[in-house]
Amino acid sequence: MASVPVYYYSSVSNLTGRFAEHLAEQTGRAVHNLADAEVRHRELGDAWVLLTPSYKAGNADEVTLPAPVRAFLRSAANRRHLVGIIGSGNRNFGEYYQAAARELATASGRPVLFEFELSGTPEDVDACAAILQDLDEALAAR
Ligand SMILES: Cc1cc2nc3c(=O)[nH]c(=O)nc-3n(C[C@H](O)[C@H](O)[C@H](O)COP(=O)(O)O)c2cc1C
Repeated sequence: MASVPVYYYSSVSNLTGRFAEHLAEQTGRAVHNLADAEVRHRELGDAWVLLTPSYKAGNADEVTLPAPVRAFLRSAANRRHLVGIIGSGNRNFGEYYQAAARELATASGRPVLFEFELSGTPEDVDACAAILQDLDEALAAR
């Protein structure tokens, strides 16, 4: 069965990247870093999942979705094939917790599949892996 690839962005603190690497190491799932220009310029022809942190500067009008993620989503093909969103955030941001993942879910009509804080716990990696496996099965049955 095909396993849906995860495309992620992570800043220099690399918290989201660590979660993505654990997911890949433990499950063999392909993860791709949108900080890499070659990755960011791809036009996908099949289902994929976005993993993104939220960044808010404190202004309610400020966009939270990282620029490389916005660049990747400029492709209509990539928008069409997006099937779900995973968010990395920090509860210290209160009402803006997971703002990027949640705002994109509202705008795109795609579900937030899983949310975790910072680089997540080993339990978070396991829980997310199980959700993605269910998603693989659902996509295979389409
Ligand atoms: C300037 C700044 C703004 C942030 N804004 C938010 C936010 O609005 N909502 C949220 O849930 N987390 C917010 N965070 C927390 C990050 O999303 C979280 O630490 C994430 O794990 C960072 O991932 P990265 O290290 O891969 O970039 C912010 C962090 C920083 C440094």
